[in-house]
Amino acid sequence: MARDYNVKDTHNGRLTIAGCGLHPGHMTLETQSLIEAAETVLLVAPNPLSIQHIRQLNANTEHLGRFYNMGYSRPEIYRQMALRIIELVQQGQSVCVVFYGHPGVFVSSTRMAGRVLSERGYPVTMLPGISADACLYADLGLDPADTGCQSYESTRFLLTRRDVDNSAALILWQLGLTGEHSMDKFEPGKKGLAALSRLLQQSYPPEHQVCLYEAPTLPGFEPRKDWMALTDLAPADVNTITTLYVPACQEPSFAAERLAWLGLNEDDIRHWDEYEEIEV
Ligand SMILES: C[S@@+](CC[C@H](N)C(=O)[O-])C[C@H]1O[C@@H](n2cnc3c(N)ncnc32)[C@H](O)[C@@H]1O
Repeated sequence: MARDYNVKDTHNGRLTIAGCGLHPGHMTLETQSLIEAAETVLLVAPNPLSIQHIRQLNANTEHLGRFYNMGYSRPEIYRQMALRIIELVQQGQSVCVVFYGHPGVFVSSTRMAGRVLSERGYPVTMLPGISADACLYADLGLDPADTGCQSYESTRFLLTRRDVDNSAALILWQLGLTGEHSMDKFEPGKKGLAALSRLLQQSYPPEHQVCLYEAPTLPGFEPRKDWMALTDLAPADVNTITTLYVPACQEPSFAAERLAWLGLNEDDIRHWDEYEEIEV
């Protein structure tokens, strides 16, 4: 059924969760219409221009970012955001909550609120936004189809047992919180980056080049692409928007027995190597 974004649903309460991307130019037309049609807009945006733009689209905009400045732990900040979303929808309002990037990627408040409201019978919809990894693919020229791509939250990657596939790309989110176990701070734990470097050196050579990546959040700025050896990661300058990209360090080998399942051998797929070649 087609969505009618121009009709204000003033009686029953509904939630739309939208993403505004990382940059003011990333806002989709669909998200823009929903912001205009909502009774209340709740917002966590990465830059003043996006905030200004969203306020111009709908004057009844409330900044959820205020919960960051109230001395709460990180989980409590996200709970407070979720509670505010739930409160307004339960009052019968049509609420559009706008998060930077994709609103369902590494955002717990939207999931918490969406789950509770769905269980209570309110309509909940999520629209995608341009996320940090989408920007990374563009700025670093990475196509996850080439090698495959693993994606983890940095501290969870560090502290849980994983089979790292060094023939695939690896993206680590929240690098700037690596090892910060208390959930109270917005900086890496004291030994976090050194421990991460040590762990990665179990799967990659010490001199393997990795990239500290930051997508621009304002027009006219270039992305941060700081390449360095794994051994230089510990003292690196990172912040809350830094993402780590670790390229593959070897080619995967074919599984001969699985080729045999299809009645094939390596000669049958040799032409895969020519797939992206072009003669001009
Ligand atoms: C809480 S997550 C939010 C992600 C966001 N919802 C998205 O879709 O990109 C924050 C993490 O996203 C990544 N991130 C956010 N902004 C970024 C930027 N401008 N450049 C690179 N990575 C960014 C970083 O890894 C950061 O620690």
